[in-house]
Amino acid sequence: MPGTDFAAFAAALPKVELHLHLVGSASIDTTLALARRHPDGGVPTDREELRRFYTFTDFPHFLDIYHLVNHLVTTGADVVTLLDGLAAELAARTVRYAEVQVTAVRNRMAGIGYDDLAQALVDGRALARERHGVVLNWIFDADSVLGPAGAEETVDFAIKYRPEGTVGLGLGGPEVGVSRADFAPAFRRARDAGLHCLPHAGETVGPAEVWAAVRELGAERIGHGIGSATDPKLLEHLASRDIALEVCPSSNVATGAVASLAEHPLPTLLAAGVPVTLATDDPGMFHNDMTTEYQLCHDVFGLGVEELAAIARTGARVAFCSTELRGRILAEIDEVVASVRG
Ligand code: ADE
Ligand code: ZN
Repeated sequence: MPGTDFAAFAAALPKVELHLHLVGSASIDTTLALARRHPDGGVPTDREELRRFYTFTDFPHFLDIYHLVNHLVTTGADVVTLLDGLAAELAARTVRYAEVQVTAVRNRMAGIGYDDLAQALVDGRALARERHGVVLNWIFDADSVLGPAGAEETVDFAIKYRPEGTVGLGLGGPEVGVSRADFAPAFRRARDAGLHCLPHAGETVGPAEVWAAVRELGAERIGHGIGSATDPKLLEHLASRDIALEVCPSSNVATGAVASLAEHPLPTLLAAGVPVTLATDDPGMFHNDMTTEYQLCHDVFGLGVEELAAIARTGARVAFCSTELRGRILAEIDEVVASVRG
């Protein structure tokens, strides 16, 4: 719309955030505090050094750094601190609802017992709602590096504890050298227990792994999925089955999954009619937030108010939140769009 103050619109637009990792959401301040408590943890204790530390040469390098930070988060109280900071940040970006990926097995490996982790999620979720007005739900993501056994342990945790807000099973970690199909039994067990199936796929590899996620894992949404863009049949499949892609443009550039924003396939996905929701992935490490993701879609891809409002509505539609909250967010989006139309 001519004359639209786009920055104000992106800031005011009510949003959902459906692809976000707990450890990757730790702010620079929080990570510095954790690093200073664990000075032998391999994570810089100096602010500028930490910023430089978050410059990734490639995707495996990103995962190495992520694991170092993961090992600083050693208590349930740390998890509550991360969730408090995350909810404050989401509220500041007009995010009403988020699904947070919690890699429970990695948290256990860093020293947090499952009883403590489950209680921290309950406490952090209550705090997010009461102090910041943000609803958080949980996706427990298996790390592909830990193999099918790690995924089974993830499902065991999700089923045994099922902390309030549990909505699904995810699958992160590398795709190269690890096939999505190997995780089919764990996803089947999760589905049988009433969990949604929300794996990463096609983040750093092509369409074959997205097909595997859909066909073998029963994926209802896909983390990233940008590797789908070269396969018209897959794009048609995702569009006709209403399988949304959780697209994280800044993340993909930061990890080297795509060479530049200008080369990001988001416009191809949208043109094919695939449902797309925008997300930050690991905002503490990529220096992004939900408002900047919407803003860059305007700046780089030329998306306007109506197109971005459509993306925000898609997010609300494919979120595993309550019907009541979905309706409230959709109504709020309509109000903000109407105020821009004037
Ligand atoms: N864990 C944290 N961020 C991730 C990403 N972008 N891809 C896969 N695993 C992850
Ligand atoms: Zn991710």
